[in-house]
Formats: sequence, C-alpha cells, structure tokens
Amino acid sequence: MKVSVIGAGNVGATAADVMASRSICSEIVLLDIKEGFAEGKALDIMQTSTTKGFDTIIKGTTGDYSKTKNSDVVVITSGIPRKPGMSRSELIGINAKIVKTVTSNILEHSKNPVIVVVSNPMDTMTYLTIKTSGLDKRRIIGMGGALDSSRFKTYISKALSKPANDIHGMVIGGHGDKTMIPLSRFASYNGLPITNFLNANEIESVMSSTMVGGATLTKLLGTSAWYAPGAAISYLVESVLNDSKRIIPCSVFLEGEYGQSDLCIGVPCIIGKNGIEEILDLKLNDEEKLKFKNSANSVRAMNESLQENL
Ligand code: NAI
Ligand code: 2OP
Repeated sequence: MKVSVIGAGNVGATAADVMASRSICSEIVLLDIKEGFAEGKALDIMQTSTTKGFDTIIKGTTGDYSKTKNSDVVVITSGIPRKPGMSRSELIGINAKIVKTVTSNILEHSKNPVIVVVSNPMDTMTYLTIKTSGLDKRRIIGMGGALDSSRFKTYISKALSKPANDIHGMVIGGHGDKTMIPLSRFASYNGLPITNFLNANEIESVMSSTMVGGATLTKLLGTSAWYAPGAAISYLVESVLNDSKRIIPCSVFLEGEYGQSDLCIGVPCIIGKNGIEEILDLKLNDEEKLKFKNSANSVRAMNESLQENL
C-alpha cells in the first residue's frame, strides 16, 4: 500500500513518521515545494527504520507528482498558517489555491485515491476538494475530529486520573475553537458514563480545554501542533488501509444527515477501504442539536469566502 503526503512540514512529516513507525503501508512519498525539504525529511525518517524496526520505504520529492503515482491514500497538509494582520478570508483564498492545485496534480497520477484533507480551515478545504475534484465524495475525508477527540479523551483521562486508553469520547461539529462540540453525554470510562465520576463543573472544564486545545498549543509553541495531528492522521489512514471500520468523527459532505446539506462538517463515520463507509446518525438531544446547527452555520459562513475558487 502506498501513501503520499503533500506538504512535508511539521504535520506532514510527523504523519509520515508515525505511519512508518506503525508499518501501516509499504511506501510513503513526501512531497513539498521547498527545494530539498521533503527529500531531507524522508531521508531522516528512513534512517530511523533500523532502530525502530520498520520496513516502509519513505521517498521525498520537490514537486514531482509522478512519484505519487498509484497512491492508495493521499494526505494534504500543504498550506500556510494565518499570519498577523491576515484575515481569515485571505488565508482561505491562499490555501484554497494551494489545495485545489495539489488535488488536481494528485489526480493526474492516482485515479481513485482516498484523500485526507488536513490543511486549515479544514472543513472548508474539504468542501472545496469535494466540489472541485470530481472524486466520489465518500473518498474525501477531512481530518479534525480524530485530533479533537484525542484531545478530549486526554483531558478526560487527566480529570479522572485514569488511563487514557480506557476513555472513549467523540468531538463532532466544525474543527474550530467555537465550532467543535465535545459530546460529554457519550463519553465514558470503559463504558461507564463520565458523569458517574465528574461533576458538571469538571465536565465543563474538560469541554472548554478541548475546544481551545489547538489554540493552547499554538500559544505555547508559537505555531500549531504536530505530534497529535500527525498521529491522528495515521490513525485515520490506518483504518482505510486495513479496512478496520473504526468509528472516527470526520468532516464529510452532508446531504440531509443531521438536518444539514451542502457542507462538510465533523460527524461520526465508519472508516474503511472505500473511505467513508457509513455516516452514523447519533440521536442528539435538543441542546446538542442547537450546537450542531450553530456550528454548521459558522462553517457555511466560512465556505462563502471560497466563491472565487469554486
Ligand atoms: P508547515 O508550515 O510546517 O508545513 C506546511 C508545508 O506545506 C510547508 O513545508 C510548505 O512548504 C508546504 N507547501 C506549501 N505550499 C505547497 C504546495 N503548493 N505544494 C506542496 N507543499 C506546499 O505547517 P504544518 O504545521 O505542517 O500545518 C500544515 C497545515 O495543517 C496547516 O494548514 C495547519 O493549519 C493544518 N493543521 C490542521 C490540523 C487538523 O486537525 N486539520 C491540525 C494541525 C495543523
Ligand atoms: C490544531 O487543532 C491548528 O488545526 C490545528 O492543532
């Protein structure tokens, strides 16, 4: 199995490193536009193979898409972060051009890959990819919910002082501080509702820490995070390549599900070899439904900045 990662920056290179370390595919191609950068990252990761014990081959290229030929999965992490003074719509304009060009280049060399969109604003970039690529919409997956859910579970584990791997939980909605919805009602410590262990204030605090999870790291690091995003990408790609049918909240194109159409937003999905195998219909209560509607409105407003790129 072959995975190509477009953008060999912090997130792309980390995703490649985690995928190789977990031996989820036989070949990874890293591609970037910065001369020699992807080649350097690939070589560095490749040189961990004997100490980590994996056989995955990692190759790097500066802009040569022929190297991505016949990829089973392509991950798009190319883009620029928001700079001081730059409006959100300016950022969308720049990243939209990058994501659109990258997608068209990918499809010249891989006929029917599953595409995982990571570049921000991710829900909007996923929508753009669906609208402009001509690929089956179930093969285009926005990665955000996997990351936000991993942060949610980690914060719950910390509040409970219990092992993170015994915690289950999901974050749906848009991938943004104000748009994501950590579903505390569905969160559990090995099946036992977290309400058995945490009071309302503690749960509220876990939810708000989750929602500003990305911003907290950006403040600490001076740029956005990469270890958890890279691992979340690998988790998602592994479910595609192994046809694992994991339930992962992903940004997908809705056509009436959750009362929404014509936008991409995070909802729980079964992820397998065809990409989105199924969108799960959670029975949300009135409060959760209202949050989802507000989140969808914000994502839709963001999509309006795409006009000239659609
Ligand atoms: P970075 O700046 O470290 O890496 C981006 C890379 O993309 C750079 O190496 C750059 O040269 C490359 N690039 C730019 N234009 C390109 C093009 N046309 N073709 C190929 N490569 C190109 O940024 P980082 O931290 O890796 O983040 C990447 C993106 O992922 C950002 O948009 C960021 O906001 C987003 N992100 C999304 C997350 C999510 O959960 N959806 C989580 C973390 C980051
Ligand atoms: C994150 O959540 C900024 O999307 C990036 O870390």
